Parts: sequence; C-alpha cells; structure tokens
Amino acid sequence: MSTENTAPITSIANIGTHVGQTVTVRGWLYNLRASGKLLFPIFRDGTGTIQGIVPKAAVSPEVFDTLKDLQLESSLTVTGKVRADSRAPSGYELDVEDVKVQQAVRADQPFPITLKEHGPDFLMEHRHLWMRTPRQSAILRVRATIMRAAAEFFDTQDFTRTDPPILTPAACEGTSELFEMKYFDEGNAYLTQSGQLYIEATALALGKVYSFGPTFRAEKSKTRRHLTEFWMIEPEVAYADLDDLMVLAENFLTHIVTRVLEKHRIDLKTITGAEDKAAKLEKISAPFPRVSYDDAHAMLEKAFAEGLIEKPHVYGDDFGAPDETYISNQFDRPVMVHRYPAEVKAFYMQPDPKDPTKALCVDVLAPEGYGEIIGGSQRVDDYDLLKERILSHGLPLEAFEWYLDLRKYGSVPHSGFGMGIERCVAWICGLDHVRETIPFARTLNRIYP
Ligand code: 4AD
Ligand code: MG
Repeated sequence: MSTENTAPITSIANIGTHVGQTVTVRGWLYNLRASGKLLFPIFRDGTGTIQGIVPKAAVSPEVFDTLKDLQLESSLTVTGKVRADSRAPSGYELDVEDVKVQQAVRADQPFPITLKEHGPDFLMEHRHLWMRTPRQSAILRVRATIMRAAAEFFDTQDFTRTDPPILTPAACEGTSELFEMKYFDEGNAYLTQSGQLYIEATALALGKVYSFGPTFRAEKSKTRRHLTEFWMIEPEVAYADLDDLMVLAENFLTHIVTRVLEKHRIDLKTITGAEDKAAKLEKISAPFPRVSYDDAHAMLEKAFAEGLIEKPHVYGDDFGAPDETYISNQFDRPVMVHRYPAEVKAFYMQPDPKDPTKALCVDVLAPEGYGEIIGGSQRVDDYDLLKERILSHGLPLEAFEWYLDLRKYGSVPHSGFGMGIERCVAWICGLDHVRETIPFARTLNRIYP
C-alpha cells in the first residue's frame, strides 16, 4: 500500500468528469463479490455507488487481502482510475489501485442489513443504518430537492417566508388530533397542526407569505399516508381567491417536478427500478384538471354502477382512499377537486356564494392513487361569520380573539394551501408508504430510533 496519495478527491456523482484519471473516493464498502482472483467491490459515498475492479495481479497483496476480508459498511478511502463502462449502472467503473480502511466492521458483528429481503419492522428499527442503502439514500436526495424547489418557487415569486410558532394555544385542523403539553402557568399548549392561522396574519402584513416547517398530528390512524410529525409548506396570499389558488398550486407542483427531473433521473431509476417514473413525471405540467366535488361524486356513482369500485360514495361524505384512487386514475396529472361540502371541511373555509353549503376549497390528488398532497381554501373574511363558525365548532373564543382581529382591521379575501412534503415525496418517488420519505418517521407506534 502506498503511503503517499496525491490523487484528487472526488464524489461518485462527479466521477464522470475524471475519466482516465486516478482519483480518491471517500466512503464505505457497500457490497463485495469475489470471483477467484478478481474482486468486485461496490463503493458508496452518499452521492452514488460505483463498482471497483480488483485483479489480484494488478494490486499489491496488502490491498487485495484487505479488501477480500473486509466486512460490508466498513469505511474506507479508495484510489483508482476511472473508466467509462456503458454496462455499469452509473456509467463508470473504478480500476482500484489502493485502499485505506478507516474503520473495519467486525466480522462477528456484521452490518445487520443485507441484500436479502427484510420486513418493514426490522428495517424501521434499523432506520439509522437502513438509510445507507442506495434506494433509501436516493429517496432522501430527492426529498431534499423537493424541499429546495418548493421554497425556491415562492422565494422567486416575491413571497416572504414567515415562520409560525410550533407551540400554540389552540387547534387549527380539528381538536381530536392535538399533541398536548403543559405550558408553565399558562395552561395547556399544543404542537402546531398547521401554521395557517398565523400566516393569515403575516399575509395581511406582507401580502404574499409562506411557512415551511414541522407539523404535528396526533393521528390515531395507521395508514400508508399518515405520519404524526411531518413537514408542511404553506403559502398564504392576500386578495387571492380560490381560482388564483388553484393556478398557484399547479404551477408550484410543476416547478417541483421539473427540478426533480433535472437532477434525479438516476435516483428515480434506483428508487423505482423497472418502472419508468420519469416518463410519468414528464407529463406533469400545468394546467391540471379541475373537478368539482359534485362532478367527482357523479364519476364515482357511475364507476360503482359499472362495478369499477367496491363501495358506493355517499353524497356529502368526504372521499375515502379508494374513491381518491379512482378519481386520480382518470387523469395523467394531479387533479384538483374543489368545492367540497362545507360540513366535512375546516371552520375557516369561505362558503361558496353560489351555494353556501359548499366551501371554496381545493384538494389536489396526486396521480396513481397517491391521494391528497395539497389541501387549501379561500378563508372566511367576514368577522361575524367567522365568529359564528368558531363557536359552532366548539372552539374556545378567547384563543381566537387575535385571529378574529384580522377580520376587524382591513379584512380582505385571502387564500392559501398546505402541502405535506412526505406525501409529495411518496408520489414522486412512487413509494408505498410515507415512512420511507423522511429520515426518521414518527408514526402511531414508532418513536425509535
Ligand atoms: O389538508 P390539511 O389538513 O390542511 C391544512 O392543514 C391547512 N391548514 C393547510 C392550509 O391551508 N394552509 O393538510 C395539508 C396537507 C395534506 O394535503 C397532506 O399533504 C399533508 O398536509 N398532511 C399529512 N401528511 C402526512 N401525515 C399526515 N398525518 C398529514 N396530514 C396532512
Ligand atoms: Mg386535507
């Protein structure tokens, strides 16, 4: 093993700019195959993976022996010459010249995650290690791009980011889903379910605002779409009505998908395997179809009559997951379902002047049955109506005095929506369960690790 090493350090993602050169990669041993006097280690460094070729005759005996017995996930730096290879998944291979082990995993305590199938409970219990596998790393990279693109969309359209509090005195999205805690001598506080009420205040101060942060729901539901802690990005716009909001939502999602396609074609392949997710995502561009609740109900009635869905949809009820799946399957891009019955929606939603039993709201349903990724509405802007709504929903008026003030001092029509990052990641990456969309998922029965 040589002691001096002057090769430039590169990331695997950028290794293509070094074809024909000797470089050093700092990372971990992801996999190792041996075939007589040839070793095929696969290295990973967090940006990607690359296969190395180690013919016994071409390297020093120390290098060969070190690698041959090395346990998976040992940390190492590897030096080698980059070769373009069209058969390699990344397009390149590394002719290994030297290896320096940083920390060798002990043979009697091998890395617990192997290439064989593990159950989801085992994987979630080892989430801190599971995230090293190429598919999980790729998902986290796509997530980061989705978050960056989401913020960038609003930042470049003159929105001001305003951060709402996480500790709040009252509910926003229904009182049954609150995490409660004692707050000194002030009584109970709750972890925020949505920044919306607070950014309605900042919107009336600054015009166009958004918030982006963690959100909490003490959901008792154990579904593939629910986390108890998730990240939500929420725009709120003064003088915007429901139509303006739908235009904002479709442009927003189109921007996010465009950024993911620009950066993550290899990651999408790693994540979805044979499925050509990129081809599906290429169809996502504004305008998106708009379907009223009434028309969506009619679609479901017809589908039930034709035996295409199992359960009839009851007019007036919210849509269940199978209903949403059926509706979204009729389109190749997200569908915006608007004007739900006010009864199934939140207290703050503005009634439709043409039919006050309906709310001026929109749910954006992702394609392929990924369900609701965005929920939003025009807000009640009349003082008396809002006060009546707060009371009829059994909410404590004292906690909402400040919110009612917004309707006392220069009230205007205004609208906003919230998108859960994890739902968006699940759709874009084609994942069965939101638990894989966030580094450490918090669900009904998991808070470890
Ligand atoms: O539809 P929701 O409950 O709407 C609100 O919270 C509004 N106050 C937002 C607003 O208008 N500013 O939630 C918005 C989005 C959903 O469409 C979904 O993407 C996500 O937040 N979401 C969840 N994601 C993961 N786990 C959960 N338990 C979620 N609940 C909502
Ligand atoms: Mg909703």
